[in-house]
Amino acid sequence: MSTFWHAFADMHAVETGGELVVDRGEGVHVWDEDGTRYVDATAALWYCNVGYGREEIAEAAHRQLSKLPAYSTFGNLSNRPAIELAERVGSLAPVEGSKVFLTSGGSDSIDTATKMARRYWQLLGKPERTMLITREHAYHGMHVAGTSLAGITANAAGHGPLVGDVVKVAWDSPAALREVIERAGAERVAAFFCEPVIGAGGVFAPPEGYLPEVRAICREAGALFVADEVITGFGRTGDWFASSRWQLEPDVLTCAKGITSGYLPMGAVIAAPWVAEPFWGADAGMWRHGYTYSGHAAAAAAALANLDVMEREGLPKRALELERDLAEALAPLADHPLVGEVRSGTGVLSAVQVDADVLASDPATPARLVGACRQHGILTRALGIGALQISPALVIDPIELGELVRGISGALDSL
Ligand SMILES: Cc1ncc(COP(=O)(O)O)c(C=O)c1O
Repeated sequence: MSTFWHAFADMHAVETGGELVVDRGEGVHVWDEDGTRYVDATAALWYCNVGYGREEIAEAAHRQLSKLPAYSTFGNLSNRPAIELAERVGSLAPVEGSKVFLTSGGSDSIDTATKMARRYWQLLGKPERTMLITREHAYHGMHVAGTSLAGITANAAGHGPLVGDVVKVAWDSPAALREVIERAGAERVAAFFCEPVIGAGGVFAPPEGYLPEVRAICREAGALFVADEVITGFGRTGDWFASSRWQLEPDVLTCAKGITSGYLPMGAVIAAPWVAEPFWGADAGMWRHGYTYSGHAAAAAAALANLDVMEREGLPKRALELERDLAEALAPLADHPLVGEVRSGTGVLSAVQVDADVLASDPATPARLVGACRQHGILTRALGIGALQISPALVIDPIELGELVRGISGALDSL
């Protein structure tokens, strides 16, 4: 075994069971080191929106790496790709005039958003607004702030005390949000964090009317509405952002993943102009926050090239067509005795849920199914609640979609 300590892994199981070493990718396919080809059912971790093998992104990064890989953006320092990326993301943002704070990934973006929210209220002379509200099933990354906001209980457990003043509400109930705010007092609430479509928690689309209602509740309470679009952003839900699709006008929006399609690590926090304003005011002073790689020049160059591809190929619109095609293709799997339900139809985001009785009698079924999928040429993973993640690149074609569904179906039958 190598010295490599895997992320989100039981290292004993990895050491005894072996690794799968992914070697290269092209379009929606990846190959392991033995040359076995797989349909990448998950676009890696929901991020490779444009698919693999995009030379123009690699070349844009290469050009920038040769010229200037990165440089600090602390204080008044800057670099051209970072400036251009902020402009570009700002122009796509759901709220006009937004400001863009660049990070190295989704967890950075969440950490930034929690601090931004609390500091915003301090700057406005309301330091008592510190409470952060999160939802069941939520995944907001694995920095300490995101871990504290975890709605996936197992992700928060076992690390001792985390960030305080965090309250969790039901994922699907505006009434539950209203009640928590009323109980605490609106004047205590800093922000409500909301994935427009819950991803890692199991792929749960918002119930009809949920998003506009919770948005309105936050507005009434004066609490910031933070849309966590680390998964849903950059095309995956049929528009540049889910917030645009559902006209949410978020106060703060966190994103990452699809911004570069994973060609290099990058994330961003988009702040509506009214949120940025107090930070940019003459009396605000320095905000002591930022990362070594905030505005990393080569990552920003890769992001710009990735957004060129997305724009030229109309991938957000393509995703809107694909959400229907994917749902139709996966629907027959729901009839399989091992499957409880197939959740799909909102964005290129689906989950094949293992039946509850099957799970109860054999909790290892999802892991065995993932293994069987590999045997059938499909690379996917099991989400915590026992569902297969299906979120391919936005370029998947009907033949590849057929390959994907046949592979999963074969894997189910083999169990
Ligand atoms: C909704 C959401 N927020 C935040 C994150 C954290 O992003 P990262 O893993 O890039 O730190 C993720 C990662 O999957 C996510 O799905």
